[in-house]
Amino acid sequence: MDFMKVMHTRQTTRSFQKFGLSQGQVELMLQAGQNAPISRGRFEDYHITVIKNPEILAAITSMAKEVTGNTDRDPLYGASAFFVVSAKEPAKPGSIASAAAIVENMHLQATAELLGSCFVMGIIMDGTLDAEGIRGKMGIPEGFTPVAGMVAGYPHGYLHDRPRTLDKIANNIVE
Ligand SMILES: Cc1cc2nc3c(=O)[nH]c(=O)nc-3n(C[C@H](O)[C@H](O)[C@H](O)COP(=O)(O)O)c2cc1C
Repeated sequence: MDFMKVMHTRQTTRSFQKFGLSQGQVELMLQAGQNAPISRGRFEDYHITVIKNPEILAAITSMAKEVTGNTDRDPLYGASAFFVVSAKEPAKPGSIASAAAIVENMHLQATAELLGSCFVMGIIMDGTLDAEGIRGKMGIPEGFTPVAGMVAGYPHGYLHDRPRTLDKIANNIVE
């Protein structure tokens, strides 16, 4: 897909079909994540985990409901893959910005593959992933802490090309 079309088609999807993603689809998103700009070029300070296992996804959703007390909402939206970016120095602004750059690259790649995706921070910050038994299931290496996430999967229907605008975020141009 043409780059401008990808950018204008990128959108948040919060409802997914059950089909799982193929290895090739996941690898394309991982490749996109690998090519993100990273603070100080310290690629070794980041780790990307992709959870496709339905039982583990269900365990995370169920723990999120327990931790937040919000039993009506699935923070993973029934997506078939959950991407978690972890960093060695989670409190550093550069780590959060780098993780966000990784997620955005993957979000755009998901769009290019006509998949739905959603940047998720709520479940990263609300303590779900620190709850008893969850981290072990995710295989996040020792010394890394989750800082940003994304879910992806097949949307219901199609992603729509959205209007091109300069008005969504206030801006000024200094000549
Ligand atoms: C840093 C960040 C964190 C976000 N966290 C969540 C989240 O936890 N749950 C969620 O449903 N959407 C989350 N979103 C998605 C935003 O709500 C969404 O991008 C925004 O409403 C704009 O809609 P659009 O992506 O369709 O353009 C997050 C987006 C960003 C950039």
